[in-house]
Amino acid sequence: MDSENLVIQESIRSLLSATANAALYSMGHPQVARLAESAYKGISAALGVSPQISLTVIEDELVINGEPPSFSLFLNRFAEMLASRGIGHVKLVEGLGREEITALIAALASQEGAKTALSSSEHIRFGRVELLEGSNGEYSVEETGAAGRREIPLRDMPAEELARFTEIYEALRRKQKMKVAGIVEIVSAFIAAFRREGESRLVTATMRSDEEYTFTHSANVCILNLAQAMSLGIEGQMLHDIGMAAMLHDIGKLFIPEEILIKKGKLTPREFSLLEGHPVRGARHLLEVPGVPRLAVVTAYEHHMKHDFSGYPKAPDGWRLNLCSQITMISDFFDAMRTRRPYRDPVDLRTIVSQIRERAGSDFHPLLARNFLNVLKRMVEARRSS
Ligand SMILES: [Fe+2]
Ligand SMILES: [Fe+2]
Repeated sequence: MDSENLVIQESIRSLLSATANAALYSMGHPQVARLAESAYKGISAALGVSPQISLTVIEDELVINGEPPSFSLFLNRFAEMLASRGIGHVKLVEGLGREEITALIAALASQEGAKTALSSSEHIRFGRVELLEGSNGEYSVEETGAAGRREIPLRDMPAEELARFTEIYEALRRKQKMKVAGIVEIVSAFIAAFRREGESRLVTATMRSDEEYTFTHSANVCILNLAQAMSLGIEGQMLHDIGMAAMLHDIGKLFIPEEILIKKGKLTPREFSLLEGHPVRGARHLLEVPGVPRLAVVTAYEHHMKHDFSGYPKAPDGWRLNLCSQITMISDFFDAMRTRRPYRDPVDLRTIVSQIRERAGSDFHPLLARNFLNVLKRMVEARRSS
């Protein structure tokens, strides 16, 4: 773990410890006061290295800036405290004061608090995560138009940027140095467009990808990742890194001979093992490129592992998947299914939805899969009404 992440993890550990103690004793207890003070100092230091810290509750698990916690004490209790108040995510922002931290600890520890909704302050923002299914417990996602899947142009993305991204990929293919700055700009352009136009923008933004390893596929996975992350309340640098991770998740495929990638027939065992090597090749490559977020390296490595670790590469016992990798798995699956492959036509939306539902809990994190289907449903509804 790098030192920055260590400071963040430590600060949250001290916040959890203060909150658990405050629930047992009272805010006035010397031990609680001491722990609250050290939580304040820790979080202030952490906000010095990362301008914001996001805590997301997924089921009974807490995710800190996209990473699983490095500690386990008080975790479940804290996740429960947030969940019982309907809070899906908490964002701590630079400039956070001692009183705000103390008030947060007191509110979370309060016994009656479970019924009272917490309200955001200037530097502490609460958000809900919508992980509930529709009222009838079923999703009905249908395509518009009898023709099925439509080809939708990425019409608002400046042609210049698209050209630049193609150029970056081509350069990489020729083993030239990767220009990270260009990809950073593209991700920023997507995020800015979302802010301007909201979720319906996603509908017009995804393009038809003809190959799974092209920039089109990466851009689609990026859009779907951003939509999922935003629905989980993730913003700022982390949102940006999740977009970058999507753009670069399949970079390892550029080192695999094209004839294997586009082969119509069955792959030989050797070809198969070359193909399955792309996460490792990609991660190794990204590690050496300056300016690539660590999250992109982890995601490139983990994006085929699957929630139950039945995928590849094989993970050692006790491995915990990064939130971004788990989000990317779903976006990747969705876009791959929509893609025409040498051996099959694009799969229709209804079938993809039922496949995602079926794979929730095995290939995909069950709640993230459900959240994705909610996002998708909203996208389809927005497309209908536009
Ligand atoms: Fe991949
Ligand atoms: Fe992919």
